[in-house]
Amino acid sequence: MAISSKTRQHEELTMTGMTNATNTMHAPARAGHQEGLLMKAIVYTKYGPPDVLQLKEVARPIPKDNEVLVKVHAVSANAADLHLLRGTPFLFRLSAGLLKPKKQIIGADIAGRVEAVGKDVTQLQVGDEVFGDISGCGFGGFAEYVAVPEHALVAKPSNLTFEQTAAVPMAAVTALQALRDKGQIKPGQSVLINGASGGVGTFAVQIAKAYEAEVTAVCSTSKVDLMRSIGADHVIDYTQEDFTKNGKQYDLILAANGFRSISDYERALTPTGTYVMSGGSTKQMFQAMLLGPFHSKSGGKKMGNVLASPNTKDLTFVKELLEVGKVVPVIDRCYPFSKVAEAISYLEKGHARGKVVISL
Ligand SMILES: NC(=O)c1ccc[n+]([C@@H]2O[C@H](COP(=O)([O-])OP(=O)(O)OC[C@H]3O[C@@H](n4cnc5c(N)ncnc54)[C@H](OP(=O)(O)O)[C@@H]3O)[C@@H](O)[C@H]2O)c1
Repeated sequence: MAISSKTRQHEELTMTGMTNATNTMHAPARAGHQEGLLMKAIVYTKYGPPDVLQLKEVARPIPKDNEVLVKVHAVSANAADLHLLRGTPFLFRLSAGLLKPKKQIIGADIAGRVEAVGKDVTQLQVGDEVFGDISGCGFGGFAEYVAVPEHALVAKPSNLTFEQTAAVPMAAVTALQALRDKGQIKPGQSVLINGASGGVGTFAVQIAKAYEAEVTAVCSTSKVDLMRSIGADHVIDYTQEDFTKNGKQYDLILAANGFRSISDYERALTPTGTYVMSGGSTKQMFQAMLLGPFHSKSGGKKMGNVLASPNTKDLTFVKELLEVGKVVPVIDRCYPFSKVAEAISYLEKGHARGKVVISL
């Protein structure tokens, strides 16, 4: 990691910029929050549609010994935020809270600047520009500040804005792990990406090209030009052509969302091809999980889903692709912080053109 050689500079938490607090605490100070210091955050206290999200002033977190406090400059929206917001599928509530959310601030993909460091932090220092997927650390990105273990963060790519950077972590690492780890992608293979024009898909097309595959992107008419512009060799407009019935077969298919049945995908695979699904309806997820192994056994094909695991090694790999220009984040819309609910509503419609980002 590029930042690993830096020397840590311990800073007192009561540093400049953290002393301008007012006394108007709306949330009581508790362990992990510093009395008197407030921040703006998008908060929800019950599951529901995006309009349950409210802009509030809450206590600013204090980093634990192994954490850094990040001033968030941009954050992107993901399907994971939607699942937590709505409490669906219901299975999510087993960890997120049965009747109401245990954590009140969602937001996983952050880009920002380190504002303070805990005493055991060794790799980061105040002022570092960082980014990461903090879904594994309890979310909390839709806020002016978030406290995160340093191991969740990577130095921001030098050639990107905070907004571009925030678009990257979850979608790009999911695409990478789906193609490289589950899909075992190889140069020269024919790879089809369904749902190619969304968050995961736009990264998947570019990462597959970086692996020197021959890429076919599937999208609707208005996104055909975008697919060509990010390097797709072939584009199938799903409103005009059904890729599962045109007789062509692919070595690797990534379905960003299922969209089709597992049998449809099986038809479109070469005899030794691999199908990986990153998301989809509950039915499609169960098909991939339960029927995938069965379909795989009946021949040389492999069919299943990917559950991405955020980590800084893979994020650093993606960062290197970004810095050499092999991957460029595609941003559909950038919303101001006060419009997070609108941003999430737009994402929920399911037709984003790349990523939806919120700028603070
Ligand atoms: N497994 C994991 O760890 C993991 C991690 C991250 C995300 N995910 C999952 O991955 C999935 C995709 O996420 P995302 O961020 O890429 O979603 P997204 O950005 O909302 O995807 C939107 C895209 O889907 C396309 N689309 C809609 N209907 C389609 C159809 N019938 N055929 C082909 N494309 C269609 C849209 O293109 P058009 O407008 O052209 O129709 C749009 O560009 C989600 O289900 C998410 O939960 C999983």
